[in-house]
Amino acid sequence: MEIQKFTSLKIEWLQKQKQLGMTLTVFFYKTYIDEALKAYDLDGVKVKGYMATSLMDSFEWLNGYKVGFGLHHVDFNNPNRPRTPKYSAHYYYQVMKDNGFPLTEDEKMIYGHFRKEFIWSTATASYQIEGGWRADGKGLSIWDKFAHTPLKVFNDDNGDIACDSYNKIDEDVAILKQLKVTHYRFFISWSRVLPDGTTSHINEAGLSYYDRLVKALLAANIQPHITLYHWDLPQALQDIGGWENDDIVGKFRDYADLIFSRLGHNVKHWITINEPYNIAMVGHGYGVAAPGINFRPGTLPYIVGHNLIKAHAEVWHLYNDKYRAVQKGIISITINSDWSEPRNPYKQEDIDAARRVVQFYIGWFAHPIYNGDYSDVMKTIIRERSLAAGLTKSRLPEFTPDEIKRIKGTYDYFGFNHYTTVLAFPVNFGDLSHYDADRGAGTVVDRTWLDSGSGWLKITPFGFRRILNFIKEEYGNPPIIITENGVSERGPIDLNDNHRTYHYEKYINQVLKAYLQDNVDIRGYTAWSLMDNLEWATGFSERFGLFYVNHSDPNVPRVKKASVSTYSTIISCNGFPDPASGPHDCLKPEPEGKLI
Ligand code: BGC
Repeated sequence: MEIQKFTSLKIEWLQKQKQLGMTLTVFFYKTYIDEALKAYDLDGVKVKGYMATSLMDSFEWLNGYKVGFGLHHVDFNNPNRPRTPKYSAHYYYQVMKDNGFPLTEDEKMIYGHFRKEFIWSTATASYQIEGGWRADGKGLSIWDKFAHTPLKVFNDDNGDIACDSYNKIDEDVAILKQLKVTHYRFFISWSRVLPDGTTSHINEAGLSYYDRLVKALLAANIQPHITLYHWDLPQALQDIGGWENDDIVGKFRDYADLIFSRLGHNVKHWITINEPYNIAMVGHGYGVAAPGINFRPGTLPYIVGHNLIKAHAEVWHLYNDKYRAVQKGIISITINSDWSEPRNPYKQEDIDAARRVVQFYIGWFAHPIYNGDYSDVMKTIIRERSLAAGLTKSRLPEFTPDEIKRIKGTYDYFGFNHYTTVLAFPVNFGDLSHYDADRGAGTVVDRTWLDSGSGWLKITPFGFRRILNFIKEEYGNPPIIITENGVSERGPIDLNDNHRTYHYEKYINQVLKAYLQDNVDIRGYTAWSLMDNLEWATGFSERFGLFYVNHSDPNVPRVKKASVSTYSTIISCNGFPDPASGPHDCLKPEPEGKLI
């Protein structure tokens, strides 16, 4: 009985391994050999050698030829029994060649500085921190509604109070000063300023909050970097179709006009829309963010995406034509994207799948704005799949030639949010009408990558440099401001957040490599987030903050985590100075208790 159970488990494992394209075998070798190395290096065990089982697939006793332990695949249907190396053979060869696991070039830290005038920033978003959901005439937003719908947000958390930032301008500015940031990226809640989304009624009390915040920042010598839209659409606009209804383009423009006219004299950095991919796909495809729609995943996200791009472009033109000459600021959109590598780097299908993942992610929005129109990859695949399913035209809306021209070039820099990397492989979803099926790829992660508090976020610094280079090559070397990057934790509170220190050092060092070694034009970096806040559908359970916020205390105090000193040291040093050329004042810790 036991043997049977064992055998069937083993077969299941090997079959799964086959589906996963041998990444499990690679994972197996990677982790077992690494453990042997630890026994040798750290524990002093006299490990003298290692033998991988097996050189090639062979007769596996009771299982015959059904399962293969080989580094080489053997074709038992061919009388010549040809041997083909699997991914694990390539991998094992490299481990032998390196005689272990030396630090790769990718992983090595470099020393150096960012440009003068580098933007060092941190960010938060209105719904995630402000609270005051009904204060002083604020209208309802789609997030107020979503979070008040049972079972939509983990633990039924909501942003009614959140970090109470609506009442805590002084506290927020004080912690920004501790960090020594030069800029602060925050968001305006559209429904706080225009309760029904239109200029028919302007909520002066709401506007005054942002005006006071901007002034407090400037008084602290911190430049505001304002984003007009971070997912919290006024509910009144959702009621008339939200981002699906192209009237939204004019409404967004009117809202932006009001904000520029009221705050623009004090603000030099603007972002129109944060993460159009998440708005389109997470809110209108997967439906796990407001407005929570998931029943037309092959059409609605593309319509929403189309209107987001047009709305962004109109607001860029508005600023360009009406405000730029006087206010002298810069304005762009913030696009987010994972980086994607092939699951098996030796397989062309996986390489192609990885490219599709990136083109459907960052490319969906960046291509029309930086290069003009949707990429050929998206246009061709979606049109062909739509026609094959019997539709008369593509599910991806088309821009007219005039629209293509009007949208292309509507940027002053590339606003970029990045967190993680995935491994891609092709998946054929048949004629399913879904963005995922159009993309035709699945993704996995390397199980040796470090975890975070968020299932989707693995610590993968190497991917950051690669995607920054991709932006440089693909979109004509635009100036880039990294508008978000960070890591989360969950579980018991521990202010000693070593994983965040590790994350910031490694990720920012990759940015430095992209800047110094690859000549990527990087102008700024923004840490997400200033403080723990409402992490959308996962509520307060995932914490991205440099400062911990104690929600069980009615004063919701902000408490510094250890990574604050790491980030502020990197800021003071404007990078990573070489100790050999030291001593460096910026590396000296601030005396405890110093008033800032
Ligand atoms: C969003 C933030 C969010 C962060 C971590 C970004 O996509 O802009 O609002 O908290 O990711 O998930």
